[in-house]
Amino acid sequence: MIKEMSKEDYIKGKKVKVQVKDLTKCYGDLLVLDDINFEIHEGEFLCIVGPTGCGKTTFLNTLSKFIPATKGDILVDGIQADPEKQNIAFVFQEPSAIPWLSVEDNIRFGLNIKKLPKEEIHKRVESMLTLVGLQNYRNRFPKELSTSMEQRVVIARNFAINPDLLLMDEPYGQLDIKLRYYLEDELLRLWKELNSTVLFVTHNIEEAVYLGERVLVLSNKPAKIKDEVIIDLPRPRKFDDPEFVKIKDYITDSIRWW
Ligand SMILES: Nc1ncnc2c1ncn2[C@@H]1O[C@H](COP(=O)(O)OP(=O)(O)O)[C@@H](O)[C@H]1O
Ligand SMILES: [Mg+2]
Repeated sequence: MIKEMSKEDYIKGKKVKVQVKDLTKCYGDLLVLDDINFEIHEGEFLCIVGPTGCGKTTFLNTLSKFIPATKGDILVDGIQADPEKQNIAFVFQEPSAIPWLSVEDNIRFGLNIKKLPKEEIHKRVESMLTLVGLQNYRNRFPKELSTSMEQRVVIARNFAINPDLLLMDEPYGQLDIKLRYYLEDELLRLWKELNSTVLFVTHNIEEAVYLGERVLVLSNKPAKIKDEVIIDLPRPRKFDDPEFVKIKDYITDSIRWW
């Protein structure tokens, strides 16, 4: 473990938002998640890295209750996670804008479901369109957009509902590097402005060190938490900063030697 900052200093004054306790998931005889325990703090940007196939998507699906856990508890604000009661938003690896709705209506979608007052919906839609720079595309449909623009629509739709927890499953895995950098910076801006709690999963170590305040490293299947690294680097972070490279190499090595 790299000791950039002690865990005690890191969690000082932070409120626990999500508690994952003894989370275990099997598909039949196949053990995929093996007794995972950790906490996410309010307003935290937490990254989880692990090799392809180790169980990252399974993990997010259990967290969001898309699939049932075999064992364990997930508490949000101290009560059992429940998508009916809490706002848990999910950005998938494949862009998933609703094809028959315009950009604007995609962003409005979750707000309508929540039956917010009309003026509030209008305000949030306009603000999200501005934040992700899609004002001029408000009436377009997903099929008329590039992959990266569609992913921004999905991200705007998810941030618009002011989620208690935003889960992101390798959302930029499909994009070329320039677009990825651009969208990562946009994501950091949204996270700061909206004070959201984000759990971002990726197999890309550089991306995790660039984005996260803390990185959990998963082992190969069955996934366990192998390490936890607090990234105490100023922002904007630089990929060639020796401290950045040191942390990235440390995590890369810890994955390489399993
Ligand atoms: N619905 C399922 N039924 C059976 N096995 C599954 C199912 N979903 C995923 N798996 C298996 O669980 C393991 C972890 O998959 P996944 O969570 O998609 O990993 P990752 O997202 O880290 O690439 C893989 O071995 C995969 O084949
Ligand atoms: Mg996956």
